[in-house]
Amino acid sequence: MKTEQLPRIDTNSVLYKKILPHCRLQAGEIWNDPEGRHRVGCIDAANIDAITALLNNQKAVLAVHDPPYNVHVGNAGSVQLGKTDIEHYIAWCRQWIAATIAVLAKTAGLYVWLGADQNDGFQPLPDFMIMMRAFPELRSRSFITMRNQRGYGTQHNWMAVRQELLYYCKGNPLFNIDAVYTDIPKILRGYYKTIQGVKTENIERSKSPTIRAGNVWVDIQQVFYRREENVPGCYAQKPIQALERIINAGSLPNDIVLDFFAHSGTTLIAAEKLRRRCYICDNDPVFTEITIRRLEHFRETGKTGWQYKNPFPEIAH
Ligand SMILES: C[S@@+](CC[C@H](N)C(=O)[O-])C[C@H]1O[C@@H](n2cnc3c(N)ncnc32)[C@H](O)[C@@H]1O
Repeated sequence: MKTEQLPRIDTNSVLYKKILPHCRLQAGEIWNDPEGRHRVGCIDAANIDAITALLNNQKAVLAVHDPPYNVHVGNAGSVQLGKTDIEHYIAWCRQWIAATIAVLAKTAGLYVWLGADQNDGFQPLPDFMIMMRAFPELRSRSFITMRNQRGYGTQHNWMAVRQELLYYCKGNPLFNIDAVYTDIPKILRGYYKTIQGVKTENIERSKSPTIRAGNVWVDIQQVFYRREENVPGCYAQKPIQALERIINAGSLPNDIVLDFFAHSGTTLIAAEKLRRRCYICDNDPVFTEITIRRLEHFRETGKTGWQYKNPFPEIAH
């Protein structure tokens, strides 16, 4: 048996049960970073009292949540939220959004990754957007799409490559314009405009030689097993580069960044790299353990993930 590799954990109940005894946190418990920066909780995002305890009397200036998108997911741990009716799903979302608002500062940003199931009326994206209108504290700001490289459904439909990201604000938070540029050089000339009697073209007027990301992000590489940041066993990892863009745009060093759906702990790693504090939770002890181990591994080795290697070397499978 190979000990170096690890298949997707959530759909493998034998593996899940082997890993569980190696997890530090049980439901309701919080891990405090020995370096005093971050906190990781094994907490249900909809439990407002537990979320308040996670914040430890502090407020966050930014939240970046990546909930399950109301699709069928593995159920090895019995705590995963599988596909449910849309009313039930949206009622659940309302609860963790209310918990978020309770722990956000007066001026703060909120990002939510979501999906639209093209085989099921595009749920839950539009339902979620409408639900959000009931929170007067939050203002819609941007509807971002990140383009994945690998898609699905290529033979009889347009290949599905989009990943949606909603941006809301509470008050008027920081928006750091320097964070919005990609590495893609500006090559198109044109868009002439006369400024103080002189005709200038867009490249002369612009603040950067590279293009802005705008609200369609085409420059971020999806995570797959050959990337250093890959975390074997996980199934829904977001690229660190995306989190770095969000965190740089909406927070300053030492600010608190929240994430209620840790999974592989991407937000925590991006926050550590950028010297923010990250308060993060997942209701599954296996994923809180992976999140803590990923931070420890990063601090020990400088590596952002395990590529194809096993984060639980003590488990032979
Ligand atoms: C889409 S994944 C998040 C991926 C993450 N952004 C990353 O880059 O690794 C969703 C996570 O939410 C967790 N989850 C599901 N229901 C939850 C709940 N009620 N409270 C907290 N976490 C939950 C799942 O265990 C899963 O790890």
